[in-house]
Amino acid sequence: ELRSVTSSPRPLSNLTQRLPGAIIIGVRKGGTRALLEMLNLHPEVEVARAEVHYFNLDENYRRGIDWYRAQMPLSRPGQVTVEKTPGYFTAPLAPSRIWEMNPAVRLLLIVRDPAERLVSDYTQVLYNRLAQGKSYQPLEELLLSGDRINPNYKALQRSLYHQHLARWLALFPRDQIHVVDGEALIRDPFPELKKAERFLELPPRIEPSNFYFNATKGFYCLLSAGHDKCLDESKGRPHAPLSSGAFRKLCRYLREPNRLFFSMVGRTFDWC
Ligand code: A3P
Repeated sequence: ELRSVTSSPRPLSNLTQRLPGAIIIGVRKGGTRALLEMLNLHPEVEVARAEVHYFNLDENYRRGIDWYRAQMPLSRPGQVTVEKTPGYFTAPLAPSRIWEMNPAVRLLLIVRDPAERLVSDYTQVLYNRLAQGKSYQPLEELLLSGDRINPNYKALQRSLYHQHLARWLALFPRDQIHVVDGEALIRDPFPELKKAERFLELPPRIEPSNFYFNATKGFYCLLSAGHDKCLDESKGRPHAPLSSGAFRKLCRYLREPNRLFFSMVGRTFDWC
């Protein structure tokens, strides 16, 4: 009867942890943190702050989907949960595992000139090693064997975007993967964020006034509800040196992989 319905207690809150509706899958050093923080400006988006590494690491994947859900932020009904783990893009089993979780999940891939990405990747490992008091080989020793590009260098393999994307496109339709231009996001974040907002079918809430160029940082920083936020100093730091000769070889090596990637995504990028 009516009375028992109207007197039933209202839940104090609809906040709960939900599986992601969208995942930033990579690329490593492509600007994945910037993209996540910028999407988080949107009131209908909640993000997992830490990288989750569920679909790429067997020891986490074995913990099961309830563990994964427990890594997610609280959200209201209708909000989109987003997580980012750049290691997913190159992990052989990540596409099928994500498909199994939710074949309709939206995927975001932020790309950057793969030669620059490689140098940034090397630089990150170098800083980590130095912080641990360890040394690291010069980039040129890893990248070249004799006077040729060493195809076994892992950071080079991570820059062969077409090989990795092929695994995703074997399962997910092209229009379920939104490609973000990492260089454009650095130059002017707002237009890239509008495109991502549309892809996620979110109402337009991100504004140009959410971004300002910070001359000290040399990058755009975020403004939201009176808070001012720049990414930490590990983002946008000077790159390890590479001779122009080696860089040219790298660019030549990447020409064909890049061309294949462009034809897969149906657009070109102004890469070296
Ligand atoms: P560099 O440190 O090589 O310049 P990720 O978060 O995937 O590791 O990517 C790091 C990269 O994000 C940085 O690479 C930097 O160029 C880029 N980036 C994009 N927008 C940025 C921003 N607003 N502030 C700082 N870094 C940004």
